[in-house]
Amino acid sequence: MQPLHGRTALVTGATSGIGKATALALANLGARVTITGREEARLAAAVRDIPGAQGVVCDVRDAEQCARLLPALQADLVVANAGLAIGVDKLHEGDCAEWSLVVDTNVKGVMHTYRHTVPHLVGLGRGDFVFLGSVAGRQVYPGGSVYCATKHAVRAFYEAARLELHGSGVRLLTVDPGMVETDFSRVRFRGDTTRAAAVYAGAEPLAPSDVADAIAYAVTRPAHVNIGEIVMWASRQASTTLLNRKS
Ligand SMILES: NC(=O)c1ccc[n+]([C@@H]2O[C@H](COP(=O)([O-])OP(=O)(O)OC[C@H]3O[C@@H](n4cnc5c(N)ncnc54)[C@H](OP(=O)(O)O)[C@@H]3O)[C@@H](O)[C@H]2O)c1
Repeated sequence: MQPLHGRTALVTGATSGIGKATALALANLGARVTITGREEARLAAAVRDIPGAQGVVCDVRDAEQCARLLPALQADLVVANAGLAIGVDKLHEGDCAEWSLVVDTNVKGVMHTYRHTVPHLVGLGRGDFVFLGSVAGRQVYPGGSVYCATKHAVRAFYEAARLELHGSGVRLLTVDPGMVETDFSRVRFRGDTTRAAAVYAGAEPLAPSDVADAIAYAVTRPAHVNIGEIVMWASRQASTTLLNRKS
């Protein structure tokens, strides 16, 4: 019997990167998986790569859409993954519209996802809610103020949720990776693929599947075991500001 047979998983923002790899890992372990993203075409392409998955167009920033679509999925394993960074501007030089996009996605998007899935977990008296945090939720770096603030918020949600859901039977996990090679940097550099590639050059970054493995490990432990926090780094990265690149 596959360890996640009979489980219903939801992974937000799973058209690429960590979300897509996690959805694939959960499906391969037997879960019935729903993935979300903002665009139908990207979603359809990702669904084709994940056995048995269904795709639901849902923008996590949209409170009404989340309220209408997420409870009906009745997921008992939720990965709040959708997130992004834009730019590396100093806070006093940043773009207000870009800040709104990042805060609305990374903070309010997680709140919407949590609000519209966790009542079902509480009703079941079991299940898993996984926050995709970041080492940026534990450390800051120049040019990362807004992104780091949003990931510190995610860490606060995780810590508060542990207290609020104490005794409910629901397990909570925050997975906080360092550098992972995904579309993240292309999005951050507003489509500049050369700049994005330079982020990862010689860094031997984590792969999305490395993060997916960690999530899969945590959610397949016996019910009495709650892996709460996973911090994972590329071996060449010591902190958000210290990276030993291969020459
Ligand atoms: N890459 C890293 O180094 C790293 C490190 C630590 C943590 N993280 C975190 O890991 C998570 C996934 O990032 P990634 O690296 O895998 O980047 P990615 O490849 O760019 O994936 C981001 C995903 O989020 C989705 N998304 C963005 N805005 C959305 C919205 N409003 N509603 C629904 N979906 C939305 C995107 O889908 P569409 O564009 O198709 O809508 C895409 O599927 C993020 O929370 C990120 O902060 C990344």
